[in-house]
Amino acid sequence: MSNNISSILQENRNFFPSKKFKKQANITEQIYQQMLLKAEKNNVGFWADLAKEKLTWAKDFTVDLDDSKAPFYRWFTDGKLNASYNCIDRHLTDKSDKLAIIFEHDDGKVDQYTYKELHDEVCRFANALTTQGIEKGDRVIIYMPMIPQAIFAMQACARVGAIHSVVFAGFSSASLRDRIESAGAKMIITTNVSIRGGKTILVKKSVDEALEGGGNSVCKVIVYARTDYKIAMQDKRDIYWHDVVAGMSNYHDAVMVESEHPLFLLYTSGSTGKPKGVQHSTGGYLLNAHLTNEWVFDLKDDDVFWCTADVGWITGHTYVVYGPLSMGATIVIFEGVPTYPSAGRFWEICQNHAVSVFYTAPTAIRALMKFGDNLPKQYDLSKLRLLGTVGEPINPEAWIWYYKVIGNESCPIVDTWWQTETGAVMIAPLPGITTMKPGSCTKPLPGIDAKIVDEKGNVLDNGEGGILVIEKPWPSMIRNVWGDEQRYIDAYFKQFANKYYVVGDSAHIDAEGNFWILGRIDDVLNVSGHRLGTMEIESALVSHQLVAEAAVVGKPHEIKGESVFAFVVLNIDIPSGEKREILMQDLKKHVAKEIGAIAKPDEIRIGINLPKTRSGKIMRRLLRTIAKGEEITTDTSTLEDESILKQLQKTPETF
Ligand code: WTA
Repeated sequence: MSNNISSILQENRNFFPSKKFKKQANITEQIYQQMLLKAEKNNVGFWADLAKEKLTWAKDFTVDLDDSKAPFYRWFTDGKLNASYNCIDRHLTDKSDKLAIIFEHDDGKVDQYTYKELHDEVCRFANALTTQGIEKGDRVIIYMPMIPQAIFAMQACARVGAIHSVVFAGFSSASLRDRIESAGAKMIITTNVSIRGGKTILVKKSVDEALEGGGNSVCKVIVYARTDYKIAMQDKRDIYWHDVVAGMSNYHDAVMVESEHPLFLLYTSGSTGKPKGVQHSTGGYLLNAHLTNEWVFDLKDDDVFWCTADVGWITGHTYVVYGPLSMGATIVIFEGVPTYPSAGRFWEICQNHAVSVFYTAPTAIRALMKFGDNLPKQYDLSKLRLLGTVGEPINPEAWIWYYKVIGNESCPIVDTWWQTETGAVMIAPLPGITTMKPGSCTKPLPGIDAKIVDEKGNVLDNGEGGILVIEKPWPSMIRNVWGDEQRYIDAYFKQFANKYYVVGDSAHIDAEGNFWILGRIDDVLNVSGHRLGTMEIESALVSHQLVAEAAVVGKPHEIKGESVFAFVVLNIDIPSGEKREILMQDLKKHVAKEIGAIAKPDEIRIGINLPKTRSGKIMRRLLRTIAKGEEITTDTSTLEDESILKQLQKTPETF
C-alpha cells in the first residue's frame, strides 16, 4: 500500500477550448512552447526579460535576482518603479478616455470612471495623504467596502510609497485591532457605513472600537462618507475624505521606489495562531499580477473583467486592482451581495455591463446553482467568453454547471490555483491551449516550478499524492511575514531545509501532468491506511442530487485511525424521522458508489449551512471539534454566522 495520499476520484472528461477562442488567445501553442523552453534554460532570465518588457521602470535594474540571503529572495533589486504609475499614468497617452472602473452600487446605481478620472481621483487623494503626514514606508490600513474609493486609496498609498494593508470590512473590531497593532499603522482609511443587501452596516463604529483605549500607532482616520448617515468623529484624529481632498491638485508625481519596497501587507489566517502579515514587493508582485491577467484571463483591450472578490482578499488585490489596471483593462466592481434583490444579481450585472471575463469562487457557484438553471437563463450572458474559479478545489458537478449554464459550453474555465503568499496565479489552464478537466487546475504556468514531494522531499512520480512545493523562487512570492522573519522560515521553508517553498496543500499529478489539489495538508484523512483528500469525498457528496454543499473532516477512530464525518447542506428542507434515515443511507451508498467503500462517511450531519469565514472558506477546524463532540473553545469571530455552530452541534434526534 502506498504511503502517499491516495487519490481515488476519477474524473476523465476532457474539455477543449473552441477554435474561435484559440484563434484570438494571447497565448498560443507556439508562444507557450517558446516560453517553456526559455524558462527551462534560464528561469531567472525569463522573468527578468518579462519584467523589462511589461513594466515601466524609472530606473532599469541590472540585478535580476539576489538569492544571497535565501529564502529571502530579492528580485530586480536595483530597479526603481511605482505601481500606481504602472497602473494609471502609462495608459494616459492612449487610454485616457477608456473606462477603468464600472461601479455598481448595492441599489443598482452605476458610476463610471475613465483612466483620466481615476488618475485625478488617485492624485488628489495621494496629495491628501502627504498633507496628512503619510510618507514612504508608513503603513496605512484600508478598512472599506467594495467601492471605488477603496481602489483610489490603495493606488494613492502605492503612489506615495506607503504600504497599505487592506482589512476586509467584514472583520470584527478585534481582528482589526490585531492588524493595526501588528502593522504599526499610522493611518486608517474607512467609511462611515457600508451598504450590502439593502442593509446599512456601521463600519466606522468598528474602527472606533478597535482604537478604543488609545495606546496605538494610529494618528489619523480618514472617513469616506458613503451615505449621509451621521457618525461620531473624534476631534483631531478623524477627518472626512471630502475635507482632505478639498483643494488638492489632480497632479501628483508618483514616488519611485526600489523594486523590493513593500507594496502591501495582507493578513491571512493560518490554521492556528495569529494572522500572518504576508509582505509583498512592488516590482516582483506587479510583474506576476500583470502577466497572469494576460496569460490566464487573456485580457484584451475591449474586455470587461469582473472578478467578484473583495479588495480585502488577495484575489481582489491581484485581479481587481493591480493586474487588470496595469494592463489598462476595464473592471467591474460591485458593492452588494449575490442574492439581493434576487439570486439573479450576478447574471444581471454580467448582462448589464457586458462582462466578458468573469472570475468567482466555487462556493458562490454552488450557492447560485441551488437556484436552478432557469434563473441565469433569463439573462443575456452572451458576452461572456472566459470564466474562472479560485479559492478551493471546484467539484466537477459545479464545474459542469458553470460550463454549461453560465458559459453556454463556449467559455473555457480557468481553475486557478494560488495563495495569498504566491501573489498571483501559479497553476491554471492557459485558456487558448490547455485541455480542461473538471476539478483539476491543470498545469503550472511557464516559469513556475511546482512539484509533488513525499515527506522526505523526494519528488514523486505522476499519480502519487503528496506535498505540493515550489522549488525555484518566482517574482511575486511572499517576501516576509511582516516583522517576523523566523515565522516566514518556519511556515514556508523549514520543512525541507530551504530547498522548497512549502505551500501547505496536498496534491497529485495525473498521467498527463495535470495537478489535482487534494486540500490543505491538515484536511487529509487517513482511513485504514489510505490517505484521502477531503475534497474528493465532498465532491462525491455534492454530486448527489439533493446535496448543495458538503464538508468532510476526520474523526479519530480506534480501528481505522480516522473515520469520515460529513456535514451536508441539502437542496430541500431537512427531512425528519424515517425519511432522514433513508436519505443518510442513500448518501453513504452514493459516496461508496462514486469513490469506493473506503470513503463512505461513518456519520453524516445535515445542517442549514456550514461554518464559513466571510470569504467563504469552510472552517474545518470547527467542524473537527463538532465531529468529536467537543466544546468549541477557540476564536469564532471570523465566522459569517456563528449560530450555524449551535445547529450543527445538535444530533439529528434533537432537531
Ligand atoms: C486553496 C486564494 C484548489 C488552496 C487565492 C490554497 C485552491 C488556499 C484553489 C489559498 C484552486 C486556492 N483549487 N484549491 N483553484 N485556489 N485554493 O490564501 O488550499 O485565500 O492553499 O488564496 O486556497 O487561499 P488564499
